[in-house]
Amino acid sequence: MKTPITAGSCYDYANDYWLKINGDFPDITAAFYNKNFSKPLNQAQNDKHDWVLSGIDFRPGDRILDIGCGWGPMLAAVKERNGRGVGFTISDLQVQYCRKRGLEVYAEDWKDADANQYGKFDGIVSIGAFEHFCSPEEFKDGRQERIYKQFFSFCHHMLKTGKHLFLQTMTWGYKVPEFEEINPDAPLNLYHHRIRGAILGLSSWWPPSSEEQIIDIAAPYFDFIESSNGREDYAQTFLEWHNRWREVPFLERWLLDAKTYLKYYSAPDFRKIMRNYKKTRADELFREAFSQEVLNHSRIFFQKNR
Ligand SMILES: C[S@@+](CC[C@H](N)C(=O)[O-])C[C@H]1O[C@@H](n2cnc3c(N)ncnc32)[C@H](O)[C@@H]1O
Repeated sequence: MKTPITAGSCYDYANDYWLKINGDFPDITAAFYNKNFSKPLNQAQNDKHDWVLSGIDFRPGDRILDIGCGWGPMLAAVKERNGRGVGFTISDLQVQYCRKRGLEVYAEDWKDADANQYGKFDGIVSIGAFEHFCSPEEFKDGRQERIYKQFFSFCHHMLKTGKHLFLQTMTWGYKVPEFEEINPDAPLNLYHHRIRGAILGLSSWWPPSSEEQIIDIAAPYFDFIESSNGREDYAQTFLEWHNRWREVPFLERWLLDAKTYLKYYSAPDFRKIMRNYKKTRADELFREAFSQEVLNHSRIFFQKNR
């Protein structure tokens, strides 16, 4: 099995931060508030697990594949409900973390995975990973659609007929400027250009352009069942993370930063990420991007019927 680890995985860098602010099996994607924004974050994440598993028609004993499983929150929810979860991630530390806690997780990039190695599944979820599958360079080279097609073809192969795929992903919002116009140093009156430029400077991934694009590309493989918009939920989730980080005592925050810098300083991509982070005040960037509709967010249920 190929193990594409990741001197440069941002999840490895961020490991200690997420575990600090989010506890055990941290979810690091949008929670499910269902319009009730006074709900505590942990409750909203648990509600997401219930909602997703009910949407894919999960039953005890089912085998569920989680593509981009992170630190295993969904796999833990599946296990708790007497299911059997299998997770893929490209972060070495996430694999170690999950395995230590009894979850079946592989260092596997789905693009290189042998689709015959893992058997067929009763459900597939992919939460906050789809937006990472295409890089800005691949987008510029016109390869985005091919990558998404390959993803749906892979999921189609892995899923039993009649079963469901759940996809949660960021997309670009409607207030987004063209690729050529983006610039983190744009003047303040070109605010949306700055936000998008900053997101790009910070990340090596390029989200899909819209929910419609995703559903269209999936159509040869999956029937669209339903979708909901999670833009406000993501803005709220970022606000909660921001507040939690600010609640960590100053000295502890400082030590965590120092430890991360010392550990990763020699990795060139880490230095690049940190430079961009400082330049763009990234801790508030994504919340702002969702609030300003530079980014949008989709949660889509599909079914394999053929
Ligand atoms: C933002 S995290 C989301 C983690 C988790 N699903 C959650 O909701 O907390 C994205 C995850 O996708 C994984 N990932 C990104 N690209 C991947 C790929 N090509 N194959 C497998 N996993 C991938 C990362 O390693 C990471 O675990």
